[in-house]
Amino acid sequence: MSQEILSIRDLSVNFGGVQAVKNVSITLQPGELVGLIGPNGAGKTTVFNLITNSIRPTSGEIILNGKSIVGKSPDQICRLGISRTFQNIRLFPQMSAYENVELGLHNTPQYTIFEAFIRTPRARRAGINTRKRAHELLEMVNLDKFARERASNLPYGLQRRLELARAMATSPKLLLLDEPAAGMNEDECNELIKLIRQIHTTMGYTIIMIEHHMAVVMDLCRDSRIYVLNLGALLTVGSPSEIQNNPDVIKAYLGERKNARDTSAS
Ligand SMILES: Nc1ncnc2c1ncn2[C@@H]1O[C@H](COP(=O)(O)OP(=O)(O)OP(=O)(O)O)[C@@H](O)[C@H]1O
Ligand SMILES: [Mg+2]
Repeated sequence: MSQEILSIRDLSVNFGGVQAVKNVSITLQPGELVGLIGPNGAGKTTVFNLITNSIRPTSGEIILNGKSIVGKSPDQICRLGISRTFQNIRLFPQMSAYENVELGLHNTPQYTIFEAFIRTPRARRAGINTRKRAHELLEMVNLDKFARERASNLPYGLQRRLELARAMATSPKLLLLDEPAAGMNEDECNELIKLIRQIHTTMGYTIIMIEHHMAVVMDLCRDSRIYVLNLGALLTVGSPSEIQNNPDVIKAYLGERKNARDTSAS
């Protein structure tokens, strides 16, 4: 068996009195695409924040390719090969689509600032490579024709694709997608399924995807598994059909709808 790319063991975090994540364990082999679902507030985004160390765990381990990454800076974690998209899109709205991707590529420059200033052949070559790669990434997500468009002018669904291109700019080994289909209509969801499948199968990315659109997560994880979180803890893990037929999962989601009704009625 190949070495796990990611192994999360007994991960927990408390915020004041709230235990947002409780003893969660998740394991991924290289090249896998797994889902992470659960009702609102279940702790899904917090798990991503823990993996990228924008928050520190209270206890537990996060092992990437055999080495602990707890305590590394978000920058180091990016260089070790983890990249993410955000539930609330985080683009530079005034910059063009191209510039947003280009910024991601500059995370690992191949030349010094001095070389860039006097435009050495190495810096010029790297500049050409950056342009080529940025356009390739935009093409990959079907946004090449919008390269010069301001990010804020793009429809919401296209902004989500742009975030995906920017996340791939650092050539990550592990891609964390936080609700990539949020706000998309059915046609956009179907396009996104094709795109994520392509990123996964033809480019070989290892992916964890948080998603509320059940059709999207069930389709993309049909050959793998889905982790279900509820109230910070792992409720179950299984294939899409096992998850859909699990009474505890149904109950957790029904509870969410009931809470939403109670809140809107009050
Ligand atoms: N930085 C923080 N400080 C305090 N509480 C937080 C913080 N981040 C998350 N929480 C709380 O932790 C719990 C889990 O939040 P989280 O955002 O991880 O849920 P989620 O599963 O991603 O939900 P959603 O589907 O709504 O995005 C919630 O109760 C939330 O209010
Ligand atoms: Mg979330």
